[in-house]
Amino acid sequence: MTPSQHLLMEAKAIRSMLKILDVICNKLDAGETVKASHLKMIVNFLRVYVDACHNRKEELILFPQLEKAGVSTSKFKTLIEENELGREYLRELSKAMDHYQKGELEYRNIIKMISKQYIELENYHLDMENKNVIPMIKERLTDEHIRNLEDQFLAMENEEFGNDHSLQFHEAMSQVVNKLEKLYPA
Ligand SMILES: [Fe+2]
Repeated sequence: MTPSQHLLMEAKAIRSMLKILDVICNKLDAGETVKASHLKMIVNFLRVYVDACHNRKEELILFPQLEKAGVSTSKFKTLIEENELGREYLRELSKAMDHYQKGELEYRNIIKMISKQYIELENYHLDMENKNVIPMIKERLTDEHIRNLEDQFLAMENEEFGNDHSLQFHEAMSQVVNKLEKLYPA
């Protein structure tokens, strides 16, 4: 897999989870009750997969590599700010879900509101990455750099999620998406 394919694979799984969260928002809108355990599963996925896995690769490996190749740091400033805002939304969402789990159903509206903001932010962010950052990999990096980038991506995943467990990690993450997609079809 190339680094671009790797990032696009992650973006696809993230967009699927955003769709699931949107279906859940519509259910909450309609006054339906959603299992707190499912909400937790989604926030955990977003924290681990979006933040610890996807954004980390960009912020710690890809952006610095592109900067070394001459891309201005300013190109990534907004993306990094958006990642920070996304983290903030997830913290708020997690707190609201704790209340909801305790039976405080009035937190439904807060969950819905933050989720909608998060979905909008992440979809926009992924569009911008797709449009502005992914093409830079081919345009600005040599073949050797590109191979090295993928090695660094895998090393980071193995370090973060267990030695040589990168494949199992992605497999487990896609199982979470598949399970929730069946429960909350678009
Ligand atoms: Fe990102």
